[in-house]
Amino acid sequence: MTPNERLTAEHASEIQSGERFEFGKNWGLFLENLTNEGIHRAEESLREMLGGDSLDGKTFLDIGSGSGLFSLAARRLGAKVHSLDYDPQSVACTLELRRRYSDPSEWTVEQASVLDDRHMASLGEFDVVYSWGVLHHTGSMWQAIHNAALTVKPGGLFFIAIYNDQGRKSRQWLAVKKAYNGLPPGLRFLVLWPAFVQLWWKRLFKDALVGKPLRSFREYKALRGMSLWHDVVDWVGGYPFEVAKPEEIFDFCRSRGFQLVRMTTQAGNLGCNEFVFVMQA
Ligand SMILES: C[S@@+](CC[C@H](N)C(=O)[O-])C[C@H]1O[C@@H](n2cnc3c(N)ncnc32)[C@H](O)[C@@H]1O
Repeated sequence: MTPNERLTAEHASEIQSGERFEFGKNWGLFLENLTNEGIHRAEESLREMLGGDSLDGKTFLDIGSGSGLFSLAARRLGAKVHSLDYDPQSVACTLELRRRYSDPSEWTVEQASVLDDRHMASLGEFDVVYSWGVLHHTGSMWQAIHNAALTVKPGGLFFIAIYNDQGRKSRQWLAVKKAYNGLPPGLRFLVLWPAFVQLWWKRLFKDALVGKPLRSFREYKALRGMSLWHDVVDWVGGYPFEVAKPEEIFDFCRSRGFQLVRMTTQAGNLGCNEFVFVMQA
């Protein structure tokens, strides 16, 4: 068995046993809807958080590249990119984006897990290490953050986004996600529909009240390039699932030689807190 075949088999068996959500399945759909505007917005968000106009001459590691959109954005900003993801379908999407938009000599893509210590150590060090919405989906979040942090050069940037710890609410969502992944695919609607209603009923009810039924659905797609329904499936299914308080991430990274440069937090929301650290030279 090649290392890729072994990873793919491991990944498939985790899905089969309900221990993992198939993130990559959604990305194909995302690519169908990807517009230049969506790519431009991804570039802007990287620029804003990394605090510079260009990544010219920089090396950029995208851990858990998913669709590959942010690897592409980093390429467009001038970086030499290495993307990795555990899910074979995510890897296929990233490869497809590279095929469409970039010179492969400046962008390498591979299937790998951030939890593979030896492999991560073999990658060397990068000017920017980016891992958005990934490390909390590995099943071993702190180990994943540790391994990712080791790939940052002295003076380099570490940009991660991790789900906000909302205490009881987060534990309830964990139970929902476990239940969803534990069900046979044909029965998952039993978890999905009630979760969808809980997340969206207020907005959809408001749309109906002002005489604009389903307005939120249409606006959501225009904004994110992804349908609201698919994002709901991603959120409800997204498992393994861990969370952290901003101060826990701050302490963990500080004890590994990082200094916080920028942060956005989710006061009372379900989303991710974002952190940009610099590794002290
Ligand atoms: C929610 S998606 C985020 C994708 C992308 N970073 C973005 O911002 O759009 C999470 C990704 O993490 C990947 N992932 C999960 N566990 C991983 C692991 N152990 N090593 C590498 N990637 C992993 C999943 O396959 C999935 O593509």
